[in-house]
Amino acid sequence: MKFLCLASDLDNNQSKGFEIENSEAVFLVKKSDQIYGYQNHCPHLGVNLEWKEDQFLDSTDTLIQCAMHGALFSVESGLCVSGPCRGQNLKTIELHQDSDDKIFLVSND
Ligand code: FES
Repeated sequence: MKFLCLASDLDNNQSKGFEIENSEAVFLVKKSDQIYGYQNHCPHLGVNLEWKEDQFLDSTDTLIQCAMHGALFSVESGLCVSGPCRGQNLKTIELHQDSDDKIFLVSND
């Protein structure tokens, strides 16, 4: 498992990106005190999603947005609800939160 951050490092409606070995990248989003994690890989062209460091959400902070062509994704499911990859999903990553509030990446497969 790889330590990512503390759950308390993220406020609600805030996102954070992480580089993993082998040029893999993942990101977390906190919404309603729940943390969601996805591979940082747009299903449209495979690029990283953020428009600047740790900025994965749209201007309303309610949807994940790809900076390249503006595809919008549900924070809760990763489903693309608007844009060129509508109907496709971000790939979820498996997370573990321990009793000390630490968030670990279990698997990004
Ligand atoms: S590369 Fe993400 S919407 Fe086109």
